[in-house]
Amino acid sequence: MPGRVLIVDDEKGMRLALRSLLAKEGYEVDTAESGEEALQRIEPGSFHVVITDLSLKDTDGMAVLEHARRVDPDAAVVMITAYGSEKIAVAAMKNGAADYLPKPFDNDELRVLVRRVMETALLRRDHRRLLEQVQDAFAGRIVGRSPAMRRVFETIDKVADTDVTVLVRGESGTGKELVVSALHYRSPRRGRPLVKMNCAALSRELVESELFGHEKGAFTGAIARREGKFEAADGGTLFLDEVGDMPLETQAKLLRALQEKEFERVGGNQPIRVDVRVIAATNQDLEAQVRAGRFREDLYYRLRVVELGIPPLSERREDVPLLVDRFLKEAAGRFRRPAKPLTADAMRACVAHHWKGNVRELRSAVEQALLLAPGAEITEVDLLGDKNAAPNATNHTAAAMPVSFREAKDRVVADFERAFLVQALRRNAGNITKAAEEIGMYRQNLQQKMRELGITADDAEP
Ligand SMILES: Nc1ncnc2c1ncn2[C@@H]1O[C@H](COP(=O)(O)OP(=O)(O)OP(=O)(O)O)[C@@H](O)[C@H]1O
Ligand SMILES: [Mg+2]
Repeated sequence: MPGRVLIVDDEKGMRLALRSLLAKEGYEVDTAESGEEALQRIEPGSFHVVITDLSLKDTDGMAVLEHARRVDPDAAVVMITAYGSEKIAVAAMKNGAADYLPKPFDNDELRVLVRRVMETALLRRDHRRLLEQVQDAFAGRIVGRSPAMRRVFETIDKVADTDVTVLVRGESGTGKELVVSALHYRSPRRGRPLVKMNCAALSRELVESELFGHEKGAFTGAIARREGKFEAADGGTLFLDEVGDMPLETQAKLLRALQEKEFERVGGNQPIRVDVRVIAATNQDLEAQVRAGRFREDLYYRLRVVELGIPPLSERREDVPLLVDRFLKEAAGRFRRPAKPLTADAMRACVAHHWKGNVRELRSAVEQALLLAPGAEITEVDLLGDKNAAPNATNHTAAAMPVSFREAKDRVVADFERAFLVQALRRNAGNITKAAEEIGMYRQNLQQKMRELGITADDAEP
């Protein structure tokens, strides 16, 4: 684990003693004989630990500390202080020194201290690097060049380093969750958790206990105390997905938690304080929900301090080629297959196609085509199926022969599921809750299936 140490002291004897001691420990040691020299030598990444005497002839150790904190916050600074100058030592710690060492000290004390401080400094550096990687990964993952996506990027830039509540809106599969991740990983909260909460859970009891946690015995089945997502997200970001589906009673509790930054666990009366940034997402017409009395107006305004709308893919077709490219490369890597290009016709058809399930549907079509296309290029038929074929299961299967038995079966099953669910939705005028009830599915599962199969409100129209 050794690392680089800078010793700053204007007494030659001290410099030599410290240098030989620390070099024996395996560190790479450098020395500076004045504050000025230290200021010149400390650059970003130049040292992991800086040990400086407090009283130097030209400047004092505080100036070295301040400089180091500014140019290289990863570096740990240890202040050597004269006997009896505790007050100054405390001031140094307040200004960001990692530790201090009063004179006289013995060699062991110094060894132990440097080892500990070095370890922390290296961990902190690794941690920061990892975060940067994650951040880059998220920032780079959102693809788009359309004016609409540019506006999305701009808004992310503007609000990422603040704590404002953001409401992300868009149809299913438009990339809402991706945007939420970008907002979190580009915020100062990135080192703390991003916790996701799906508000379309089955019952109010469940949503509330998920959000706020519960005390033992709060309701039947609450056999132990449970921490809620609000607590889990402390210091970080809470992502309230499908917020439009949150039960009304829960909305009141959420509003209170947002305004007072305080809540109680279900069945508890101890107020819990947290520091959480909230980002919500929905694909619902919240304004209509408000008018219909299904969504609290005050909560609506509290959530949409900043609104980030992601348009459907059909309104930003210029993004399609970029997305196809990205998904092809990713899938080739993931499936360990050589990347195949789309024929020019296939790309044109892909751009013109109405992707009801938006980017998610495009992505699965591209992945499937890469796996199943028989030729060296991906054709329109590989990607979109055979338009001329009758839309029944047998023909669909025949269109992209040869396939394995399993793939063929999966397709037939998917076709069947799609037809079955669309019928159920139509019988219930598109009401997901009612349709789910009728066919004995959980609402959430039905929604999930609809997304997988690219079923949208249009399909469900009677
Ligand atoms: N602009 C984009 N660039 C790259 N990938 C994208 C983009 N938009 C969406 N995706 C991908 O499409 C898929 C769906 O995106 P995401 O889950 O964020 O959608 P969503 O809006 O949250 O959908 P839902 O409302 O169904 O939850 C994911 O695999 C995501 O990585
Ligand atoms: Mg989502």
